[in-house]
Amino acid sequence: MSLATANDTDRLIDEFALMRKEGPLTRQLLQEPGGFGLGMIPNGCKPDSTTKMVCGFCSTGCSLNVHLKEGEAVGLTPATGDPVNVGMACPKGWEAVSVLDSPARATTPLLRRNDRLEPVSWDNALTTFAERIKAIIAEHGPDSVAFISTGQIPTEEMAMLGALAKFGMGLRHGDGNTRQCMATAVVAYKQAFGFDAPPYTYQDFEESDMIVLVGSNLCIAHPIMWERVLKNKRDPDIVVIDPRCTETAMAATWHLQIKPKSDLALFYGVANILAERGWLDESFIERHTEGVDDFVKHVAPYNLDRVSHETGLESTAIETFARFIHERERTSFWWTMGINQSYEGVRAAQSIINLALLTGNIGRPGTGANSITGQCNAMGSRLFSNTTSLFAGRDFTNDAHRQEVAETLGIDVDLIPSTTSWDYATIMENVLAGKVKALWVIATNPAHSWINQNACRDILSRLDFLVVQDSYVDTETAKSADLVLPAAAWGEKEGTFINSERRLGVIKRVKQAPGQALADFSIFKLIAHYWGCDDLFREWTSPEATFQILSRLSKGQPCDISGVEDYRMIDDAGGIQWPCPEGSPPSLANQRRLFEDHAFYTPSGRARFKFEEPKPLSEPPDDHYPLILLTGRGTSAQWHTQTRTRQSAVLRKLYPQQIYVEINPIDAKELNLEADEWVSVESRRGRVKARAFLTNSVQPGQVFLPMHYEPVNRLTDAVFDPYSRQPSYKACAVRVGPWRVHHGV
Ligand code: SF4
Ligand code: MOS
Repeated sequence: MSLATANDTDRLIDEFALMRKEGPLTRQLLQEPGGFGLGMIPNGCKPDSTTKMVCGFCSTGCSLNVHLKEGEAVGLTPATGDPVNVGMACPKGWEAVSVLDSPARATTPLLRRNDRLEPVSWDNALTTFAERIKAIIAEHGPDSVAFISTGQIPTEEMAMLGALAKFGMGLRHGDGNTRQCMATAVVAYKQAFGFDAPPYTYQDFEESDMIVLVGSNLCIAHPIMWERVLKNKRDPDIVVIDPRCTETAMAATWHLQIKPKSDLALFYGVANILAERGWLDESFIERHTEGVDDFVKHVAPYNLDRVSHETGLESTAIETFARFIHERERTSFWWTMGINQSYEGVRAAQSIINLALLTGNIGRPGTGANSITGQCNAMGSRLFSNTTSLFAGRDFTNDAHRQEVAETLGIDVDLIPSTTSWDYATIMENVLAGKVKALWVIATNPAHSWINQNACRDILSRLDFLVVQDSYVDTETAKSADLVLPAAAWGEKEGTFINSERRLGVIKRVKQAPGQALADFSIFKLIAHYWGCDDLFREWTSPEATFQILSRLSKGQPCDISGVEDYRMIDDAGGIQWPCPEGSPPSLANQRRLFEDHAFYTPSGRARFKFEEPKPLSEPPDDHYPLILLTGRGTSAQWHTQTRTRQSAVLRKLYPQQIYVEINPIDAKELNLEADEWVSVESRRGRVKARAFLTNSVQPGQVFLPMHYEPVNRLTDAVFDPYSRQPSYKACAVRVGPWRVHHGV
C-alpha cells in the first residue's frame, strides 16, 4: 500500500452506487482530503518517516511517534519531547497499531436478514438507515429515535454526529458513554465552578507537597500519570483513599482504607476539623467563594467519633490527614471512578472540591480539586458532542445560547432543540417503556458496559432497529445489531482529542482502513446526504474544517480555543490546553492551569460550596447477600470492554484470560473456598462464574471484579446519582459460594 491515491478514490466511487448516481457533490466529498478517511499523511510527512500523534486509549493523551514504511504504520515508540508523557507509554499505547490488524474488524456494512447479519453495499446500508429511521419517526414521533455517542472518536466527529442528529435529522435525544464515567465530575464542576472545568495541568503531579488520590488506582488506570507522580522532587505525601489496597495504595506513602461509600462522611469530617481548628484560608474563602457559613454548619455534626465509626478509620488517622492538609503548602486532590460511579457521586466530588476551597488549594502549582478522565476523548465529548449540552458547554434550554450557536453556524435557530436530551439511563428506560424504537450506537458497547446487563440485554432486544457503528464486529452490541456501519479506527483517520488536563492533541491517518470501513466523519457526511440535510454541512468539509467551526463556537466560552490556528499549531506545540483564546498562543512552558486569577465561571465569579446529607448504601449487604461487590479496572493492558485490547497477542499475555474475583482469605476460609477454584458470585440480578483470587487487597466483607470481563454487569444494580444520572457501578450486595454446590458442575 502506498499513500492514499486516486485508486482508493476510484475504488470507493465504484463501491458507492450512489456516487455514480449523484455526481458532483459526493464525488467532491470523496476527493476531499480527510473527508473520507482518505487524506494524505498530514503535515507533509514522507512515506518513510515518523509522525507524531496522541494515543487513542486513555485520557492521559500520550504522544506517540508512529513509524511509517511506504506510508503505512509499521510500529511506534513514545515521543520524548512532549509535555505529557516525556518518552513513556503503557502497554496499550505500545500496541495501538497492532490492534488494528484483526479478523474482527468491521470491513463492510452488515444488515440483519432472516436473523443473520449479511454484507450489503454502503448504498443499501445508508438507504436502509434513512428509510427505517424516517419511517419510525413518522409513525412514533421524534422521541422514538435516540443515539449514544462516545468518548472514543475525535471531537470533530462527535460534533458532526451531534449536529447531524440534532439539527439535521431532528432527533431530540442522544447521550454519550461518558455518562458512565464523567457525568458526575461534569455536574460537580458546573455547580461549584460554573463550568465543567478540571483546573489542573499534569505538572501539578510534580509540584505538590501532598497528593491525595481518591477512588483512583492511578498505577493501573493512568500509569503514565503515576510516572509523573514519581517524578515529583518535593518528597510528597501520597495518600490513597480507597476501600481496596490497590497497586496504587501499596505504592503510596499512606493508605486510608475506608469503608465503601464512606468518602462523603470522611471529607465532611475533615472539613469540620479544619473549621474547628481555624485551619482555613480565610482570605481566599472571603474573596472567592460563597456559602461557606452554611457548609461549616453542615459539617459540624461530623465529629471524630461519628466519622471514625462511619469510615472505619482510626480517629487519629482522620485528624492527621486534616493536619497534613493544613500544614502542607500545596495539596492536590485527584479523583476518578471510586467517586464518580456512585448514587451520591456529585456530592462526594464536591466534598473534595470543598476541601480545596477551604484551604485555598486551587489555582496554584501543585494544588487543585482534579477529576481525572477515562477515555481518550471524554473531554472532547463533554464540551463538543452536542448531546445533553449544547456546543461548547452551552445549554439547550437557554435561548441566548441557542441563538449564539444558530448565528455561528448560520442555521435557523428553530433547528436547535430547546429541551435537554434524555440522559442515557432515561433513554434505556424509554426503550423498555416502548417509546424509543430505534437506537444508533457509535463506538461504544452497552451490551457489556451498561449497568444491570440482564435488564440491558432485554432492553436492547426490544428495539425495532439497532444500528451499531464501530470498528469491530465482535462486540456484544454489534452482534445484536440490525445494521452495522463499519468505521475506521484511530490511526486510520484524523481529528483532535482533548486529554484530562484539557490539552488538545492531533491524531492522523497512518494506515488504510480495512475493506470498506470509513472514518466516522465520512459516515456522518454520507448519512447527511442520504437523509437530505447535507446543505447544513456545506462548511463541514473535513475534520480540520470542522475544527475551525468548533473554534468559532468556543469563542468567549471558558473553553475558548479560537487562538488555535490549525492542527499543525497543536502538533508543533506538543498539544495545547484550553483556554487558548485568540492572541494567546501557548507559552514556552506550554502549561495552563485554571483559576490562577481565582475568577470562577459562576455569575458572581465565586466558587460555591455544595453539600448534602450522605445516603446509606443503595443496596446494603444482608444475610442473603452478605458481601459488597466492588468493580474497577484490572490491568493496564486492558481497556474498558476490550473491543481493541483483546485483539493484541501481546496484551493478551499481560492480563488473566479468565475472569477472577478477589476475595479476602478470611471470607474464603469461612466460605470453604480454595484459591483458584471456580466460584459463583451472585447478586439479586444475576450470577457470574469466576476464579477465586484470594488476596488481602480486598477487606473482609468485600469482593472485587474487574470490569473488562463481559459478565460483570450482570450483577450491578441500576441505581444512579440524582444530579449526574451516572450509574453506581461500585457497590452492590452479592454472595459468593463454590460453583459446584450451587450448580452441580
Ligand atoms: Fe495511551 Fe493512556 Fe497508555 Fe498513555 S497511558 S499510552 S494515553 S493508554
Ligand atoms: Mo470514561 S471518561 O467514559 O472512561
